[in-house]
Amino acid sequence: MSNSINLAILGLGTVGTGVVNLINDNLAELKRRSGYNICISQVGTRRHREDIDPNITQSSDLMAIAASDDVDIVIEVIGGTTLAKDVILHAIDHGKHVVTANKALLAEHGNEIFAAAEARNVHVAYEAAVAGGIPIIKVMREALAANTVDWLAGIINGTGNFIMSEMRDKGRPFTEVLAEAQALGYAEADPTFDVEGIDAAHKLALLASIAFGIPLQFDKVYCEGITDITLQDVEYAEELGYRIKHLGFAVRRSHNGNQSNDAEGIELRVHPTLIPQDKLLANVNGVKNAVLVNSHPLGQTLYYGDGAGAGATASAVMADVMDLVRVLSANGQGHHVPHLAFVPDELSDTPVLAAEQMVTGYYLRLHALDTPGVLADITRILSEAGINIDAILQKPVRKVGQVPVIILTLPVVESQMNLAIDKIEQLEAITDKVVRIRLDELG
Ligand code: HSE
Repeated sequence: MSNSINLAILGLGTVGTGVVNLINDNLAELKRRSGYNICISQVGTRRHREDIDPNITQSSDLMAIAASDDVDIVIEVIGGTTLAKDVILHAIDHGKHVVTANKALLAEHGNEIFAAAEARNVHVAYEAAVAGGIPIIKVMREALAANTVDWLAGIINGTGNFIMSEMRDKGRPFTEVLAEAQALGYAEADPTFDVEGIDAAHKLALLASIAFGIPLQFDKVYCEGITDITLQDVEYAEELGYRIKHLGFAVRRSHNGNQSNDAEGIELRVHPTLIPQDKLLANVNGVKNAVLVNSHPLGQTLYYGDGAGAGATASAVMADVMDLVRVLSANGQGHHVPHLAFVPDELSDTPVLAAEQMVTGYYLRLHALDTPGVLADITRILSEAGINIDAILQKPVRKVGQVPVIILTLPVVESQMNLAIDKIEQLEAITDKVVRIRLDELG
């Protein structure tokens, strides 16, 4: 093998440009660490870029680059799930190792892509697909390999966290903060992926697979965005000692005997969540991401860092490249961690639970007419549904004759909460839909 490793970078957007810059900046360090000259031999770009070294071939024919003899590793950073998929499968077919930051593609088609890679004995590395620069894939697949993961909770969308932080701290309007996140290169091409939780759900599907050894099941992730969160709820939550964060949860749930209709399986859910203000996750702000993993016997560990942006994502892409250089230098016999952390034949069919089977605490905000007995009616309905109240806050009358009532509950099966809310909304004294936000004490 020569002492050079040739890379093809497909896509020169925020991430692709970040990778080019990182290689230029850290060339000597990359060689000192790997023992090889890391060279960009080709870039795939729709239009010619004057700022790219003239020795690097530029082309818009991505399929040709992916199959090219002078490329050892293909870096896919074009995004999307159509062309990117074709290009990656083509590269695999031609025996290339692939590095991708494409969480949507892997969440939706990863089972097929990883199977194709296993069949050709090549690797598809995806550190950059989850939580930007935080090396969470490596941690989960390698550093925690001796543990059983019980649950994980993560702030895994930088744009959403940036928006929530700016709104809370500075009272800035949603659209203004989103525009800034786009300008800074944090947001997805379609920013609804960020604010509706779809991007986080893609990442959660990947994390859950490597946590529990299950096939990728993006279509079973329950997903709620942040667009309905009001400043009023943010304030009430603070008053009660909580902060609202947009979290992804993957939870291994077994019968605990405390709930009458609890189910065994895995919860995969992304939703706004009240968490205690004093928890570290509650203090992860701006574009930062963090993933809290509870595993046995290790216990809780927290991973924190930049979750989006050119430099952070390029760092993760190049960490994968460095791993693959070691595989290549061992003639393909080097260090190989299974794509989904578990041996493919050993993936489990533990079911992903339906939303109604999930168990969480709740923040409820109700608007009640200021009449005697209304609070008693509400608490009776909750008690009849077996729902334990943790705290109640009744605010002074805001609109004429209306009292905001905030109730925090202990964890309950969602189907029971649905029934109770239906009954509460039928009370004559309840004037609006009940607002509900899930709540988690994080162990
Ligand atoms: N749009 C994503 C985010 C980029 O804001 O987290 C990183 O995946």
